[in-house]
Amino acid sequence: MELIPNTEPERQYWFMDRLRSMVAEEALKAGRELTYCIQTFGCQMNAKDSEKLAGVLENIGYKEADSENADFVIYNTCTVRENANTRVYGRIGYLGTLKAKNPLMMIALCGCMMQEPHEVEKIKKSYRFVDIVFGTHNIFKLAELIYEKMTSGKKQLIDVWESSSEIVEDLPSTRKFDFKAGVNITYGCNNFCTYCIVPYVRGREKSRKPEDIVKEVQSLADQGVVEIMLLGQNVNSYGKGLEEKCSFAELLEKVCRVEGIKRVRFMTPHPKDFSDDVIEVMKKEPKICAHVHLPVQSGSSRILKKMNRNYTKEQYLTLVEKIRSNLPDVSLTTDIIVGFPGETEEDFLETVDVVKKCGYDSAFTFIYSKRTGTPAAKFPDEVPEDVVKDRFERLLAVCKAESEKAASKLTGRTVEVLVEGRDEANKEMMTGRLSNNLLVHFEGCDNLIGKLVNVRLDECKGFYYLGSLV
Ligand code: 5AD
Ligand code: SF4
Repeated sequence: MELIPNTEPERQYWFMDRLRSMVAEEALKAGRELTYCIQTFGCQMNAKDSEKLAGVLENIGYKEADSENADFVIYNTCTVRENANTRVYGRIGYLGTLKAKNPLMMIALCGCMMQEPHEVEKIKKSYRFVDIVFGTHNIFKLAELIYEKMTSGKKQLIDVWESSSEIVEDLPSTRKFDFKAGVNITYGCNNFCTYCIVPYVRGREKSRKPEDIVKEVQSLADQGVVEIMLLGQNVNSYGKGLEEKCSFAELLEKVCRVEGIKRVRFMTPHPKDFSDDVIEVMKKEPKICAHVHLPVQSGSSRILKKMNRNYTKEQYLTLVEKIRSNLPDVSLTTDIIVGFPGETEEDFLETVDVVKKCGYDSAFTFIYSKRTGTPAAKFPDEVPEDVVKDRFERLLAVCKAESEKAASKLTGRTVEVLVEGRDEANKEMMTGRLSNNLLVHFEGCDNLIGKLVNVRLDECKGFYYLGSLV
């Protein structure tokens, strides 16, 4: 028998080669092409992982379907808040009804929720029709898992790893957009904010080598991508543990040097690690977009300490001031959690104060969700539901008022925008993204998609602009 390679990615390509003929045979028998559908929950990391999963499925012969009524369905799950989990279970039940009608159908579950043993137990017990379960550490192994499922006769294949130290490069990947793409720079997280499940489900922080990142960015540029988003749980701590030292600021410079790339974004920085050298690079590198997403989580230093955020309200405000004075056009966005255990009205008012002082362009506000296994799940003084709801509503109103004020800042200016497609709500108009991440709708045609054009911002409509091509 032919030897299966034991190095990656060669091993996965070996399985893909075998699977290609197996899938073709099934398609021939069925008299039609086999299709796939991937549903992604959660953040940009998951979105990027889904592109890698799609890359493997397309490589072995599945074609993308526009609904879950497909031959291979993957749910790439999120578990950051309880409601993400609830949504997934409702939909797995529906997949079961589809599978009953399609004997070829395979169902796979992966992502952050599958890293939690109690969730996997629930799938084992109550959702026997799920074919494959895997986690965040072994998504590179999809081809091997499909092969094993198809050849072993196992009813349900479960392969979830607790951790991994390896980063597998050079596997196939698809892209949702032709002109923009996400690029992983770190995996995992070492911060251990007390409310957050991410370090437990995504493991310890690992940085990709700068040369691998630059190679990927170059290859994306060669394929016509003009905007890239560097992705990591805490991008500012990039570089720890690398053999050859490289800071996040140095990485930004390297990436900006790639010819063909016109815009560089990054997500998500942590306020505690946002160093001056990053501000300096942003100032001198015109390719870096004028947008900083800087999650504050709470405005109360007392709560921030309990959250293990490692900064105070004052330190956060000083950082924002530094960013604003050095980068006057920058838009600032944030994440805020309401109702963390022990949060008093005074703590909450500190958060409102920060929102007003920072004048966020937009804020993602979340009700605190207790995640089993995190330190905060054991903290006393849970905030009653009605109090949290009331604070949440009040916070939303303040954020809305602030973002309306902030958004209109550029009215009358002519700015460069990347045309992303037709406006979903009004197909007569095109949509472009400003460097600061806001959208503008304007009259134009399809051949502008993926191009950078100048648009005058005529009128601000709250969260977006109406403009005209100049
Ligand atoms: N409850 C509510 N929101 C949370 N987030 C992370 N963990 C929780 C939790 N347990 C929010 C944070 C983070 C964003 C991605 O999700 O605001 O920045
Ligand atoms: Fe992303 Fe965290 Fe959700 Fe995982 S748990 S998908 S890392 S937000």
